[in-house]
Amino acid sequence: MENNAVYYGAYLQLEKIIEAQDPESFKEGKTPAHDEMLFIIIHQAYELWFKQILFEVNSVIDIMCKPALNDNSPEMQTVVHRLKRVTTILKVLVQQIDIMETMTPMDFLDFRDMLRPASGFQSWQFKELEAKLGLKFEQRHGKEYYTAQLRQEHVDVIKNAEGSKSVLQLLNGWLERMPFLKEGADTSFWENYRKIYGSSLADAEKNNLTGFEEIFNDSSPGNDRSLSPEACRAALFIMLYRGYPLLQLPFQLLNYLLEIDEQLSSWRYRHMNMVHRMIGTRIGTGGSTGKDYLKAAADKHYIFREIAQLNSFLIERRKLPALGHDIEKKLGFVS
Ligand code: HEM
Repeated sequence: MENNAVYYGAYLQLEKIIEAQDPESFKEGKTPAHDEMLFIIIHQAYELWFKQILFEVNSVIDIMCKPALNDNSPEMQTVVHRLKRVTTILKVLVQQIDIMETMTPMDFLDFRDMLRPASGFQSWQFKELEAKLGLKFEQRHGKEYYTAQLRQEHVDVIKNAEGSKSVLQLLNGWLERMPFLKEGADTSFWENYRKIYGSSLADAEKNNLTGFEEIFNDSSPGNDRSLSPEACRAALFIMLYRGYPLLQLPFQLLNYLLEIDEQLSSWRYRHMNMVHRMIGTRIGTGGSTGKDYLKAAADKHYIFREIAQLNSFLIERRKLPALGHDIEKKLGFVS
């Protein structure tokens, strides 16, 4: 074949990838541990997928950074489509734990000590992804500890991600700008909605009305929240009236963000259980308390929890206040 034709291996730089496994236990003077190859390849596969997810998330951020993103535009479709892809990759990442679990704890012990102090804890791409999605430093379990084991250049990657606009912040801005909210759902709409919601609560749930006030009306500074009251009202409106054509994509956007949180959480729990099974209650090679550390991080690191929480404030479809004729027209296909 011609030398200058695009060649499969060169295009994919396969020589670099296929030569990129160098198990510690295979080195001179050591006893080769068969499963170390699997251990390396599975981590490499994860890191490649993290790279792809970051690529998608960065492109979503670029689109959402635009000051005037039209809900009815192809760009919104692109955002939703790429987030769906992220959730699909995450599902594969959760399943890949099955492959890791074909390694037994004794197989792992054959090379575990040779890895110290390296650990998945040093995966800067994973932490960058959390930050790009919207996990803030203040919400991290263990605070400073999460970067303590990283080289400065990788700490910088994460700090840069934390200092730039996250998906969650951009979502807040986008929801606040939602055009129909002011016309379709003014103060009287929300007063009426609050009444209907209040009457749907069981006696033991009456406290939810205080939560309703805090989430949808309390804009006092110092609240530890990422979504403002206006943004929360817009998100609830989208969830309630998602049957209207113009709200379908916005609804899918919210739904995929919840799916991302759910898949990331599934990964964390599966990883944590695998760790428990593999090393019991021993500390991790990265020096953390191991399973206990992972459990606390899994419980705390939900990024889109404020969207999930809005589902506590839904009412039955048949009780939804009817929308005015003008706004109904705007939300339809033909306006
Ligand atoms: C035998 C298999 C594995 C064991 C025993 C294990 C163990 C651990 C432990 C104990 C930690 C906590 C930090 C520490 O003290 O080291 C950790 C963190 C982590 N591991 Fe693994 N791990 C395994 C496989 C994997 C794989 C395949 C990945 C894929 C990339 C991975 C990614 C991570 C990440 C991203 C963290 C940081 C989690 C966070 O800070 O919330 N681990 N791992």
